[in-house]
Amino acid sequence: MSDIFVPGLLKDRTAFITGGSSGINLHIALRYAAAGAKVAIVGRDAAKAEDQAAGIRAAGGQALGLSADVRDYAAVEAALRHTHDTWGEIDIVIAGAAGNFVAPALGMSSNGFRTVVDIDLNGTFNTARAAHAFLRKPGSSFIAISAGHATMPVAGQSQVCAAKAGIEMLVRCLCIEWGGDGVRCLAIAPGPVDGTEGMRRLAPEGARSLERMLATVPSGRQASLDELADLALFLVSGAASYINGAVIPIDGGLTNLGSHAFGEMLLDSVRARAA
Ligand code: COA
Repeated sequence: MSDIFVPGLLKDRTAFITGGSSGINLHIALRYAAAGAKVAIVGRDAAKAEDQAAGIRAAGGQALGLSADVRDYAAVEAALRHTHDTWGEIDIVIAGAAGNFVAPALGMSSNGFRTVVDIDLNGTFNTARAAHAFLRKPGSSFIAISAGHATMPVAGQSQVCAAKAGIEMLVRCLCIEWGGDGVRCLAIAPGPVDGTEGMRRLAPEGARSLERMLATVPSGRQASLDELADLALFLVSGAASYINGAVIPIDGGLTNLGSHAFGEMLLDSVRARAA
C-alpha cells in the first residue's frame, strides 16, 4: 500500500464503479474497499462482476457485483438504484467502462466507430445522468476515465480519441451544472498502464511494440495499477475537496512528447496482423 493510504479513509462511503471487473477500475475498486468503502462493481459480465465482489467480501469488505452494459441507460439506472437501495446515497461514481481496438478510420465501419463512442462517451453520459438522482448532495464525486487520446491525436485510434475528447468536455460541463449541488466532476487521463486489457490491445506483440510505445513517454515506463488507484483515492479524499472540473493526466508526460510514433507503432501492428 502506498504512502498516501489511510486505513478507514472511506469508511461509511459508497462507490459505484463501471467497468469494475478488470483493469484500472477493478484496482480502484479494490483500493477503495481496502480504505473501508462499500463498493458496487458493475460490468457487462455478471459472473465476473460477482467474482470480484465475492473476493472483496471474502477479505472482509462490503461489495456488490452487478451486471449492466453502460450503453443501456435503463440497466445502468437499475444498477444504481440497487446500490442506493442497499447502502443509501452514493458518494463516488467511477465511469470507467471502455472499449478499444486498433484500426485506421478506413479500416472500421460506421458501427465500429459508433460502438466505441457508445461505450466510452455515451456510457459516461448515461452513468452520470442516471447517477445524479442517487448521489449524496453535497459531498459526492463523479470521476470519468479518459486517456491521453483526448488531447493527443493517435492514428489507428480515431474512435477512441473522439470519444475521450467528448468525455473530457462532458465532465467540464457537468462541473458547471452540478457544482452548486456539491457534486465534483473530474476525469483521470492515463497513459499506458501495465497489466491492463488496453495495453494488451495496444501493444500486443510484446516487448518490441512496448519498447516503441515507451519511447514516446518522457518517464520511459508504464504506470502501475497502484499509481492509478492512488490518484483515484486522492481525488475522493478531503485533500482534493477544491479540485473540480479538472482532467488529471497520469501519463509520465506522454502528452507532451507527441503522438506520431505511437500511432505508427499501432498501425504497424495492424499491418503485421493483416500480413
Ligand atoms: N477493427 C475494425 N473494426 C472492429 C474491430 C477491429 N479490430 N473490432 C471490432 N470492430 C467493429 C466490428 O466489426 C463491429 O462493426 P460491424 O458490425 O460493422 O462489423 C463493431 O466494431 C462492433 O463490434 P462487436 O464485437 O459487435 O462489439 P462489442 O460490443 O461486442 O465489443 C468492442 C465492443 C469492439 C469495443 C470490444 O473490443 C470490447 O468489448 N472491448 C471491451 C474491452 C476493452 O476494449 N478494453 C480496453 C479498454 S482501453
